[in-house]
Amino acid sequence: MALWKLLLACLHQVDALDNGLGLLPQMGYNTWNDFECEGVSAKNISKVADKMVELGLPALGYEYLIIDDCWADHRGKDGKLVPDRNAFPHGMKHVADYVHSKGLKFGIYMDRGRWTCAGRPGSQGYEEVDAKTFVSWGADYVKTDSCNGPDSLEDPPSAAAIAQYQLFRDALNATGRPVFLALSGWHNWYSPYGESLANSWRIGYDVRNWQSAWNFAIRVNGFLSDFGGPGGWNDPDMLVGSSSKTAVQMTPQQSRTQFSLWSVMAAPLLLGSMLSMGHHDLETYTNTEVIAVDQDPLGIQGEIVWENCPLRKRTNIKQSQFYDEIPACQQVWARPITDGFAIVLLNLDAEKPANVSFAVSDVCWSSQAFVGKPCNFFEEASVRDLWRKEHLGIRKFINVTLARDGASQMFKIKPIIPQAPHTSAKKKTPASTATGHRPKSRHREPVSSHFSVALETDAVHFLQQPDEL
Ligand SMILES: *[C@@H]1O[C@H](CO)[C@@H](O)[C@H](O)[C@H]1NC(C)=O
Ligand SMILES: *[C@@H]1O[C@H](CO)[C@@H](O)[C@H](O)[C@H]1NC(C)=O
Ligand SMILES: *[C@@H]1O[C@H](CO)[C@@H](O)[C@H](O)[C@H]1NC(C)=O
Ligand SMILES: *[C@@H]1O[C@H](CO)[C@@H](O)[C@H](O)[C@H]1NC(C)=O
Repeated sequence: MALWKLLLACLHQVDALDNGLGLLPQMGYNTWNDFECEGVSAKNISKVADKMVELGLPALGYEYLIIDDCWADHRGKDGKLVPDRNAFPHGMKHVADYVHSKGLKFGIYMDRGRWTCAGRPGSQGYEEVDAKTFVSWGADYVKTDSCNGPDSLEDPPSAAAIAQYQLFRDALNATGRPVFLALSGWHNWYSPYGESLANSWRIGYDVRNWQSAWNFAIRVNGFLSDFGGPGGWNDPDMLVGSSSKTAVQMTPQQSRTQFSLWSVMAAPLLLGSMLSMGHHDLETYTNTEVIAVDQDPLGIQGEIVWENCPLRKRTNIKQSQFYDEIPACQQVWARPITDGFAIVLLNLDAEKPANVSFAVSDVCWSSQAFVGKPCNFFEEASVRDLWRKEHLGIRKFINVTLARDGASQMFKIKPIIPQAPHTSAKKKTPASTATGHRPKSRHREPVSSHFSVALETDAVHFLQQPDEL
């Protein structure tokens, strides 16, 4: 790209989205993983709304019902999008009114390019019209996709894509209605700009099964924790679930792991099955203690605090439509929350179970814990298993056996901080640093939203080789 264009892009950048929304990651339901393009209709949306209420989901925080691609048919003579008449015979406001009457919020889908991913009309050149139309229907949430626009598949930051998203952001703002804006650009280079553009932004391609969950979400999001927080969140894509009647699915075990990990990642919790949701997934999605981790008001995204997986550098995490093999290794993710830490121990090995022994004090290596307050040295913590819903007492270690193929366990710990005999301004160093089995604490500068700033190079260390640390 010519330098002048880049400079122009910088000049035109308004650096804030300030709609007051997204103080916590969004929760709700989206039609895509359930229906894809088949059966997105007023009838089915009403059924979904009824089922959400029947299951008590709104009271747990699942407030948005979002219609994904395939609702739009054509653009009318007046320039406005016209919904498919067979599927939405009374128009879209009628559907939104029904959703609202159930106490839910209404979400709709558009695409920044000429056509949507499924080939329906896109919003390029119609940003203002479409923003006004969605608001006239009562939309509370808009998902903005990225197919068929300029530079949509470019890997480095794309000025054209960012400019298009700014146009729509500003058009929505001009309507005067606060509308949650979910950017779906499926590239991790959006993260440093995300907060200025949207309330959430996708960091990779679609998660459709366990392998894509690893490739496009889990192996990527550990690098991006600096960018998510109240007002704007990294979005590792929607929940897949294990119903065999939906368009995509995982095993029940992987589905539960996805929910645990997504909560530790402070990710949006958007359900992908409703009418055919089975008992196991319902139990997963209604675990209030895990939901509380996701919705923790500190809004700190969790990180990998221990792993034996091969070294990955952020610069090597290329967006690729092709899947890499899932490595046969284990990880521990931790997230600082209001009253301690949430921890997920994960076995990625597809073939073999694994024993993991995790020293609770190692959560201190969650670098965000150092921001603003020292992570006090401690050896013991009171431990609660969030799936068995059992207190395990005070522990130095959490020792678990994890089944193969995406099994995990999730805990909450409250550190027991020893009483210091003397107050000292000096931050204590964890005593077991010498074992060398943890990553270095990563000091991070706040990243400016200025367009020309490149992503910092960063690496998750290969913890089985202490020499490298
Ligand atoms: C529009 O943007 C301004 C400036 O960022 C902000 O103060 C205002 O709340 C926004 N309005 C809506 C409806 O998002
Ligand atoms: C509702 O969705 C199902 C797929 O789950 C589809 O078979 C059916 O035709 C849809 N019904 C309507 C009225 O769109
Ligand atoms: C895990 O530990 C148990 C008990 O010490 C042992 O019997 C088992 O073989 C171990 N499993 C693996 C996969 O290492
Ligand atoms: C847990 O693992 C640690 C470290 O491997 C070990 O020292 C400790 O005895 C184990 N605790 C239990 C209860 O097995």
